[in-house]
Amino acid sequence: MSIIQVQNLVKKYNGLTAVDGISFEVRQGESFGFLGPNGAGKTTTINILCTLLSATDGKAFVNGYDCAKNPSDVRASIGLVFQEDRRDIECG
Ligand SMILES: Nc1ncnc2c1ncn2[C@@H]1O[C@H](COP(=O)(O)OP(=O)(O)OP(=O)(O)O)[C@@H](O)[C@H]1O
Ligand SMILES: [Mg+2]
Repeated sequence: MSIIQVQNLVKKYNGLTAVDGISFEVRQGESFGFLGPNGAGKTTTINILCTLLSATDGKAFVNGYDCAKNPSDVRASIGLVFQEDRRDIECG
């Protein structure tokens, strides 16, 4: 089974195309390195997979759940560790 499926994913920020129609799959139990140069769209893609950002076009599934249609099921399927500790930001 593919635990992650990304199909023709596109993200545009106003005029800028940050993710330009990428597709890949990660199978259950597989170690997968998601690499690319600065600005390639890695963080944008991961944020879509974590349901923190919506895609402009294409599909993303985690654990079989559609990130756009079933974000609660996606969130219940994952754990996320942020790259930086952001205790400096006020959240209220
Ligand atoms: N909120 C935003 N608004 C506008 N443009 C953005 C936004 N976030 C990212 N971008 C732009 O989208 C493109 C992809 O950025 P992203 O942060 O996804 O790349 P990345 O692969 O994670 O880069 P890095 O290796 O530097 O972490 C870049 O051109 C970036 O400037
Ligand atoms: Mg990044």
